[in-house]
Amino acid sequence: MTDTQTLRMSAPVEKSLLDTATQGLIGLPLDRKDGPLKVAGRATYAAEYALNDVAYGVLVGAPVGLGKLKGIDDTAARAVPGVIDVVVDLDRFARNPQQGGEETAPTQGVKDIDYWGQHVALVVAESFEAAREGAAAVVLDIAEGTPDVDFDGRLDDAEKPADSMIPAHSESGNPDAALTAAAVSIDHVWTTPSQHSAAMEPHATIADWQDDRLTLYSALQMPASDKKQMMKALDLKADEVRIVARFVGGGFGSKLGVSTEGIAAAIASQQLGRPVKVVMARQQVFDATVRRSNTSQRVALGADADGKLTTIIHDTITSNLPGEDFFEPAGLATHFMYSGDNRRVNHDLVRMNWLLSGSMRAPGEAVGMIALECAMDELAEAAGLDPIELRRRNEPDVDPEKGVPFSTRNLTRCMEEGAKVFGWAPAEPATTRDGEWLVGTGMAASARTNLTMPSSARITLTPSGTAIVETDMTDIGTGTYTILAQIAGELLGLAMPQVDVRLGDTDMPPGAGSGGSWGAGSAGSSVYLAAEKLRENIAKAMDCDATELTLKDGLAIANNRSVPLADLVGDGMVAEGVIKPGKNDQSHTQAAYGAHFCEVRVNATTGETRVSRWHSTFAAGRILNEKTARSQCFGGIVFGIGAALTEEMVHDPRTGQVVNHDLAEYHVPANADVPMLGVDFLVERDPWANPLQAKGIGELGISGAAAAVANAIYNATGVRVRELPITLDKLL
Ligand code: MOS
Repeated sequence: MTDTQTLRMSAPVEKSLLDTATQGLIGLPLDRKDGPLKVAGRATYAAEYALNDVAYGVLVGAPVGLGKLKGIDDTAARAVPGVIDVVVDLDRFARNPQQGGEETAPTQGVKDIDYWGQHVALVVAESFEAAREGAAAVVLDIAEGTPDVDFDGRLDDAEKPADSMIPAHSESGNPDAALTAAAVSIDHVWTTPSQHSAAMEPHATIADWQDDRLTLYSALQMPASDKKQMMKALDLKADEVRIVARFVGGGFGSKLGVSTEGIAAAIASQQLGRPVKVVMARQQVFDATVRRSNTSQRVALGADADGKLTTIIHDTITSNLPGEDFFEPAGLATHFMYSGDNRRVNHDLVRMNWLLSGSMRAPGEAVGMIALECAMDELAEAAGLDPIELRRRNEPDVDPEKGVPFSTRNLTRCMEEGAKVFGWAPAEPATTRDGEWLVGTGMAASARTNLTMPSSARITLTPSGTAIVETDMTDIGTGTYTILAQIAGELLGLAMPQVDVRLGDTDMPPGAGSGGSWGAGSAGSSVYLAAEKLRENIAKAMDCDATELTLKDGLAIANNRSVPLADLVGDGMVAEGVIKPGKNDQSHTQAAYGAHFCEVRVNATTGETRVSRWHSTFAAGRILNEKTARSQCFGGIVFGIGAALTEEMVHDPRTGQVVNHDLAEYHVPANADVPMLGVDFLVERDPWANPLQAKGIGELGISGAAAAVANAIYNATGVRVRELPITLDKLL
């Protein structure tokens, strides 16, 4: 029987073992354990498993924005040399890619076509080329309807969505009356377009049925819940499905849940009795995997003559397909960022025939803080205050909505330290010019809610004195392999090479998965707890108390004795750790914070904006690995620059089709678009978060980043553009 250490987070963990262990690995900017594999091309991604006798599938999308599928003529497709089968399973195909964590089966059926490009069939062939040719030859008989694709024209149809992880509506005091009475106020609408995760690795699955067991090699962020979705979709039992996702080439939310290619591959593999590989083309990734909703956000702020907020209103309208629950929670951070007695955060939803909207990196804050933090910049100007001073005056003592304390909150220090490093000294708007370039600086606050998710891990101490860490948690490029090795190595007294981390396989203990910035805290805590249990067992073997035990350099040291671990573990010593969320979620408001500062140069002739300087300071509890943490922040800031300047899914006004459905026309920033980014972390511990005292960082960098750019553009030009992205045409 395996020993298990379980912790439900209901009280703070004031003493973390990470403070007293002696290996010295935590926080170090260590290189990625998986780095050499990746640069050598030896990290195997979903589509790269070399299975014998694999067949290739290509998905067929419906070329209408709304319609009823009456029939499929596959005669011509089957006539293509090499085509094996055309799989049409109208009852089981997914209408939509799924949100993460949902356990509903993604099998609404595809007779009803609700968005352009929705997948309705899979052509399977001996080669990818034949499958592609066959897919192009499939003839769909569709009774076409008129899709709802005019968001601006349908704002009045917005309705209240069901409450999700956050309520759709919250209100206290009398925000509208307080706005009218305010000494200083601003009231504007910001809009952001549909955005796409645009992960480097396309959505891909190889499905393989062997002996009534389905193995899916799939690009997924959350294998444990993805497995449940697959079980529901295909009516399978837990021991009949295995998901393998050892390496994932980015997800950013688009791989939280299963997509059509995984279900189609599974159905085809079962029917054909051989492995089937389905890789979405880049265009299909854009057409038919989850987008971030466009938003229309009204933010109105009122303050007294001293700049103390009296009212905060954040009314958001987003879009999603008919029948879907998800709404982009743009007001997430507005609930707790600033003080003010009168407050309203509201979300409404317009039903549209654009593809499913769902979670994309920092769902809520990524676009919500654009409106909120630009609004704060405008209010600062109206109140005659520096934007840092305005925020300082509105720093709440406790959560201003719920009245509960913050776990740790170091926003003010992030602003102050960041301002020093950046050299924050903004000039009057539109007063600084360098030749043809208008120069300006801007800042914005950052915050991302911290969450704990159930997660488990197993550690085996082997007879040779090394450790094997196993969990179905993923590493989507974030550094999971590395930080889990650091935590296990630190607590077990082992060097990095002696810790073998194995991830992304549902035959291992279920992990939290990579989502919502909870991965490191949750999966890391499960490894911590397993190691804590092993330390207790080693202490027993050493006849000492766990508190008297030192584990260092592969040795157990206590009572003036020093014994190699290998001599203590017999055939191997195994323990599991399980972390669960608890009352800490309600008793304290937990978030990581930061402050962004940037300089932009706007060309006075062309309107082109270049970001020329950047510094951000973050406070996210204990930093587990300074290099991978900083890298996460870099990535988030780059996302923010993209949101501010270039990223926009353009929907065809007739059909809703995403017309810029590739990386040539959906513009994510490239190296030349990004200056050297400076990122600092404050020393902070958050005992309410988890035993690591670490908070999530994956989505912190993006939150507020685009607002800093927009505010800098205003400072450079004197023009407030509230319709993002801020492309050059809007500045001329
Ligand atoms: Mo994140 S949008 O939860 O992958």
